[in-house]
Formats: sequence, structure tokens, C-alpha cells
Amino acid sequence: MAFISILLMLLYILMLHGEIAARDQTKNLISPGSSLSPIAGHRSWRSPSGHFEFGFYEQGSGFAVGIWLQASADRKTVVWTANRDDPPLTPNATLLFTVNGKLLLRTEQGNEKVIANTSTNYVASFALMNDTGNFILYNDVFDVVWESFEHPTDTILGGQILAAGAQLLASVSETNSSTGRFHLEMQ
Ligand SMILES: *[C@@H]1O[C@H](CO)[C@@H](O)[C@H](O)[C@H]1NC(C)=O
Ligand SMILES: *[C@@H]1O[C@H](CO)[C@@H](O)[C@H](O)[C@H]1NC(C)=O
Ligand SMILES: *[C@@H]1O[C@H](CO)[C@@H](O)[C@H](O)[C@H]1NC(C)=O
Ligand SMILES: *[C@@H]1O[C@H](CO)[C@@H](O)[C@H](O)[C@H]1NC(C)=O
Repeated sequence: MAFISILLMLLYILMLHGEIAARDQTKNLISPGSSLSPIAGHRSWRSPSGHFEFGFYEQGSGFAVGIWLQASADRKTVVWTANRDDPPLTPNATLLFTVNGKLLLRTEQGNEKVIANTSTNYVASFALMNDTGNFILYNDVFDVVWESFEHPTDTILGGQILAAGAQLLASVSETNSSTGRFHLEMQ
């Protein structure tokens, strides 16, 4: 009898553990209808480890949208930038993961710009800032419909593949992510 209760208890602990592990993987998923703002509320979405963040970072007199590695409390290294040659954004810009699965930037003037150009056949159901530094949009069965790793700017990270024909274009400077003068290309 005691043996059976111990067995049942073990089974219960194992089930609980599995459930917690499953929840851990999904707790950082970003749902449609979420948004970010440079100044109010959520400014970024973090990876589970907290090392990488996707969101607004300060650039010149305003903000840009990108991914950075938070190396320490006061040092971030930007590894990807959306629409890098656009002028800095004002504090009124909003980043939207819309209810119909689009990742858009709405400027102060109300203009909308696509951040993740997903094929119209695939609707994104979740977004995730992965611990590898890859920002991913998934459909409802967890196929990847868009990932920042396929659209590199000036950096490639461990696990990221630079496809044939793809380029890395250096930034103007450490504080300006616009396209600079140096290109690296697979030939
Ligand atoms: C970044 O550099 C580009 C090209 O030199 C320039 O046009 C732009 O104004 C700079 N942006 C900032 C925020 O300094
Ligand atoms: C931001 O939006 C608010 C309300 O629409 C407006 O009053 C304010 O002037 C805007 N700020 C900037 C910097 O454009
Ligand atoms: C999105 O991708 C399509 C096809 O690849 C292209 O024709 C279109 O110009 C792209 N849109 C933006 C906003 O980049
Ligand atoms: C997400 O990160 C995990 C490691 O944390 C890695 O094994 C996996 O390949 C990554 N997924 C994508 C699509 O980058």
C-alpha cells in the first residue's frame, strides 16, 4: 500500500514537472494584440533568459526598432535593426503585433510600416524572442513564418546561417545603425 502511494506520488511529481516545463516554453510567447511603445508601458519583449530583447532602443534624437544583447545593465549591443535607413522614430511610435498576425510599426503620423514581411498565405499566431537572438513568428502549428535570422543587418549570431546571396552590411557607427560602407557576402 505504502509502495503504491509512493509510486503515485512520484508519478504526480513527474506529471507536475512536465507541465511546468511545457509552461516554461510557452510563457514567453507574444500573443496577437500585443504592442510596444518607446516611452509608455512595454518597451521590449525579452527572451526567456533575458539576454536578448526585441523592441525600441534609443537612436540619435529618437528611437529605432531592433534586437539587442543586454550585456550588462548599462551596455546593450544591437544585433538587428528594422528599416535601418529610416529616420529616428518619435516617442509616439507604436509597434504592433496585430490581431491578424502582422508585425507593424505605426508612426506618429499614423503611417504603418511592415516590420516582418510574411507571405500572405501564412498568418502568424505567436511571436517569440528566442534565446539565440532570433525573433520568430510562428503559425498556429508552430511552423516558422518569419525569422529575423533570415534578414540579417550587420551581425550574425551563433546558429545563424548566412544564405548564399545574403549580405551583411556594416552600420555607419556604433551609435548609428544605418547602412554603412562595408559589405560581406557569400560568393
Ligand atoms: C546615421 O547615418 C546616416 C548616413 O550617414 C545619416 O543620414 C543619419 O542622419 C544618421 N542618423 C543618426 C541618428 O545620426
Ligand atoms: C504624441 O501624441 C499626442 C497625442 O496624440 C500629442 O498630443 C503629442 O503632441 C504627440 N507628441 C509628439 C512628440 O509628437
Ligand atoms: C514583401 O514581400 C513581397 C514579396 O516578397 C514584396 O513584393 C513586397 O514588396 C514586400 N513588402 C515590403 C513592405 O517589404
Ligand atoms: C530557439 O532557441 C533554442 C535554444 O534556446 C534553439 O535550440 C532553437 O533552434 C531556436 N529556434 C529557432 C527557430 O531559432
